[in-house]
Amino acid sequence: MINKDEFVNELLGKMTLAEKIGQMSQFAGRGGIPHDLADDIRHGKVGSILNEVGVDLLNEIQRIAVEESRLGIPLIIGRDVIHGYQTVFPIPLGQAASWNPSIIREGARVAAVEAASDGVNWTFAPMIDVTRDARWGRIAESLGEDPYLASKLGVAMVEGFQGDDLSKEGHIAACAKHFAGYGYSEAGRDYAYVNISESELRNVAFPPFKACADAGVATFMSAFSDINGVPSTANDFLLRKVLRDEWNYKGFVVSDWDSVIQLITHGFAEHDREAAMHAANAGVDMEMASHTYLAHLEELIEEGKVNEEDINSSVKHILSVKYDLGLFEKPYTNASSFPEKGNNNHLAAAKEAAIQSCVLLKNDHQVLPLKKENLKNVAVIGPLADDKHEQMGTWVFDGKAEWCQTPLQAIRKELGDDVNIRYARGLETSRTKNRDGFAEALAIAAESETIIMFMGEESILSGEAHCRADIDLPGVQNELLEEISKLGKQTILVILAGRPLTLEQTQHYVNSMIFAWHPGTMGGPAISDILFGKVAPSGKLPVSFPRMVGQIPIYYNHRNSGKPATYETFTYIDHIPTRAGQTSTGNTSFHLDAGFEPLYPFGFGLTYTHFHYHHLRLSSHEMPVDGSIEVFAELTNSGSREAVEIAQLYIRDQVGSITRPVKELKGFQRVHLQPGETKTIVFHLKASDLAFYNRTMQHVVEPGHFDLWVGGSSNGDLHTNFTVR
Ligand code: BGC
Repeated sequence: MINKDEFVNELLGKMTLAEKIGQMSQFAGRGGIPHDLADDIRHGKVGSILNEVGVDLLNEIQRIAVEESRLGIPLIIGRDVIHGYQTVFPIPLGQAASWNPSIIREGARVAAVEAASDGVNWTFAPMIDVTRDARWGRIAESLGEDPYLASKLGVAMVEGFQGDDLSKEGHIAACAKHFAGYGYSEAGRDYAYVNISESELRNVAFPPFKACADAGVATFMSAFSDINGVPSTANDFLLRKVLRDEWNYKGFVVSDWDSVIQLITHGFAEHDREAAMHAANAGVDMEMASHTYLAHLEELIEEGKVNEEDINSSVKHILSVKYDLGLFEKPYTNASSFPEKGNNNHLAAAKEAAIQSCVLLKNDHQVLPLKKENLKNVAVIGPLADDKHEQMGTWVFDGKAEWCQTPLQAIRKELGDDVNIRYARGLETSRTKNRDGFAEALAIAAESETIIMFMGEESILSGEAHCRADIDLPGVQNELLEEISKLGKQTILVILAGRPLTLEQTQHYVNSMIFAWHPGTMGGPAISDILFGKVAPSGKLPVSFPRMVGQIPIYYNHRNSGKPATYETFTYIDHIPTRAGQTSTGNTSFHLDAGFEPLYPFGFGLTYTHFHYHHLRLSSHEMPVDGSIEVFAELTNSGSREAVEIAQLYIRDQVGSITRPVKELKGFQRVHLQPGETKTIVFHLKASDLAFYNRTMQHVVEPGHFDLWVGGSSNGDLHTNFTVR
């Protein structure tokens, strides 16, 4: 049997230059098969199609490529399958709150099976841009602010999409995007420029990409951003030096949508031809949407401005992925060999993901879980209580809104006829400023003992190009909450949103608060199970929640500064005496009006029981520079019901050749405990986990003293030290 390299080299040997460039060109679907597209496929000008759906249509498109083009090379067919296909899972940031790689792997597996049954064989996920900016709409698609968490979860997503063998039915190629630094878009404004040091790139932005490359992700996508003056799509440092030379990556790189032609808009290329030249020379193997490669690469090669060897490499990368997908042997999709989309197993997986993504932010006097037997009159209020579309979130092209089960439906089902449930939308949308619905909402609230509010952001307020400069609850939602709070009833707020919101004001209006993100198809039953205590919440924040938007970027793993803030040195604006003289002595790094801490820290999340961490100990307080230690702690469920805790391990490298973060996540695990039960949790910490890129960009473990914390959030519960020798 001939192996992949032989197969690819042999095929490459038969290809004309034009056919090679065709493989490097991805065409946007236009619905159906227009004549010119069919002709382009026949003439070998198309390597890939994106955003076209329907199994019959895709099989026909594939047939033209396989049967009517000279070499019969099948197409790779891409689609944004970001958090589910027709069965919608929570947005990625919500899934990240599960801190559970198996949940993410399963979500991607279900999405892959459903998408593959429609003829899709490549998704543009996971998005593993580390971001510390909740204004940025695409934070919804991300796995949060931490490189370690995003690495573990990103790899799980790749494994879910790709399985152990890409050629097996129901497995699709994944895409690590957007390489790199896109999450640092200035001011959280999408597509804006990125100013980022090489140190920050290597120590924070790259690790999830490196982890996915090591896990065999089939493709990478370059970012839209101008990074330090060189757009990612023309950035040979990123795409050649780091990705190919240092990481030895073998998959292919696709540009983002029109990002090659946008090199002109950036002011980096004068015209299409120059854009094609920069992108090809930087190492973009496939051009998405725009067609500068088709128009100019041949000529650029003739002129010696682009090297044909680089083109051969690009084509090899692309053909290799097609080979791995088994497309040369089996280009067509037989939909009938797949399980039905939206089947009960898929819905159950989506429900479990939604449950595990919910984060309990506040629960005064244990208002939650609600005890059914104590309920008589319940008011369900809010624009997101019963809106199938809005609970699906951003990046949903194929999701079936009609399959969604809303919170109101689920609460009705759970409580049956024994409880009087009154419902008012209160506000037409999350962002409306129209208060006409207040009266009805207040009236039903007045008639009820328990009020459950569903507020937040509608789907379109987050996602690509949907950034916000104010991240409070939009519209007049806080006003409605305030009015309702004046009734003095037991009030629970469930927030559905695509990003962290500033909840400083909101939190005071309610007794309990659950952050459910955009939870997808099964959001309703998942939230209902948590409200009524069928399951205890276990989610933890994958990103810090600021008090005020002006604190952004605020994240747990920042560096220390020379004057770090403390409670003793913090002065609140109202406490400064009038006509105080200017002084900086003894002052530290904080905002007069917001302090120095987020409202809810990274890793935070409550549940219905109490967890107690104790007896932290290490196998040794000395770690050889190439060795490891075991970290042990006892975790007791000292409350009265079973629950899952996500135990977290953090370290701090006290002194480095570059200043190091005040905390870094280095391990986490989900621990299930019965009431009264104690388990020993064990983390294996390797010296290599402590490595970072130093001033000369060497990846090093530096000897020295380290802090270590184990606990239920980035605030840590238990602390000790160790030394690397
Ligand atoms: C986005 C990508 C996406 C692509 C294809 C672009 O606008 O930035 O993340 O995969 O479109 O739809």
